[in-house]
Amino acid sequence: MRRRILLFAAVSCAVALLSGFHGGGARPLAVGQRILYAAVSGPDFPARQPDLLRMLDAKDVPGMRRHVWNVWAAMTQPTPSGFPRFLTWYQVSETFGASDSLPAERVFAPEFRIPSQKNIGSGDAILSFNLYNDSFRYHVRRNGYQSKKKLIAMAGRLTDVEDFPNDSISVKTVWWPVRRDGLTAFPVWDDTPTRPITWGRGDKALVASGFFKDLTPAEQQAMTTHEEEGNDFEAFGRVVAIDPRRPSVPRGETAELNFFDPMDARMQRITTRTARVVPMSRMFTVQVNDQKTVDWINHLPLADELTIRMWGRRFERGDYVALVAVHISTRETPDWVWATFYWHDQPDQAPLGNDRIAAVPGVFRDYKMHSVYHAELPKEAGGHNAIAFNPYLEAAFAYGPRSNCSACHQRAVMTADGPGDVFPVRLGYLPKDDPFYKGKLRLDTSWSLAYETK
Ligand code: HEC
Repeated sequence: MRRRILLFAAVSCAVALLSGFHGGGARPLAVGQRILYAAVSGPDFPARQPDLLRMLDAKDVPGMRRHVWNVWAAMTQPTPSGFPRFLTWYQVSETFGASDSLPAERVFAPEFRIPSQKNIGSGDAILSFNLYNDSFRYHVRRNGYQSKKKLIAMAGRLTDVEDFPNDSISVKTVWWPVRRDGLTAFPVWDDTPTRPITWGRGDKALVASGFFKDLTPAEQQAMTTHEEEGNDFEAFGRVVAIDPRRPSVPRGETAELNFFDPMDARMQRITTRTARVVPMSRMFTVQVNDQKTVDWINHLPLADELTIRMWGRRFERGDYVALVAVHISTRETPDWVWATFYWHDQPDQAPLGNDRIAAVPGVFRDYKMHSVYHAELPKEAGGHNAIAFNPYLEAAFAYGPRSNCSACHQRAVMTADGPGDVFPVRLGYLPKDDPFYKGKLRLDTSWSLAYETK
């Protein structure tokens, strides 16, 4: 058994090397390359629901995390095109767009945009797009859930959309622009916020909801002024310098480069930061050679904050995008399994990276992981509800660094007036008979059904 696991790990490393998963390879993966859909297949997906619930009830966090690493290993296995399986899945236009049928052979053409989760507050200069596996997409199409009108008409008449099949997966990805001809600053999250975690998007709504009722009215009033001053990536305490030109960099090498000054609450000022140099080969990257994607990136709101302001030029053909964060949710249980991954230069640190399994291939070993199976349980050591957040997506929210995927997604609803409210960040499990749900259509936790439908 042990030999087989080792052999499997060795083979997947070799495949990863050949396919460019270690960067540095012969030809980088590029936008526009042909892809074929590849399903997740692994020994542990989909898992049996009673097995997952038993681990949750037994507070078996190591077991729950092992399952998520198994899913990650299965999703990130390389396909013949060189792309990991999950990047062959369907994007928003393919899942919620006009066309029911899709050609078997497609091209990798990322539909970058600001994550609408951030957009709902103020924008931020990050590239993002979602992916949905075949099971998720088919369920949407066969029920007509790509139509917002249909979902709005269902609200008030029905309590829930049809349950998604247990092998449905949805994914949100976040990317960072990397210049081909020099060093790129990239902020890393060391779990040490530089601002109070109560600052950020949703602050006013948190105050209005009575969250700060222990503060004086004057203190509460002051709290409402920090809506734009959360722990966004501009405020992260440390940056690394990504080097695209060398496959390895001597240990301890540093460089000076420009990045936001974490001391500036308004996130405008730029300062010189000392950064550890890391080779780009440690990240999953895709080269952008086509003018259409270049123009798309340059037209995203605030893209110039990371390109013109930091590099002194726009994004150009030949530059790269690096995968820095991934959210996933799987319908293996009725509350779904929630997991998030983010790149880190010391990815093996405890507690989010020291239990990664050997089957995770190549550069996908350089991501830390956080996961929850429930909006509250099992409680954290200090008694707080279970926490799982991604610094590139949720740290900017008021209370984001203590948030829980499931606590927010259980509120994914459509009302007769349109999508439900996302903010403020809320905590705690909502029973199905909670008054919150009155007159609303539950979307089986998928916020995309509220915001991506046409
Ligand atoms: C404060 C609310 C909030 C929190 C907390 C949150 N999300 Fe989301 N999430 C959203 C919204 C809103 C969207 C829809 C944005 C869009 O259209 O992509 C979304 C989209 C997603 C998607 C794309 C599919 C879907 O369900 O729409 C995934 C996957 C996802 N989130 C996973 C996670 C994970 C994993 C976590 C925890 C680490 C998390 N989310 C935390 C609000 C939240």
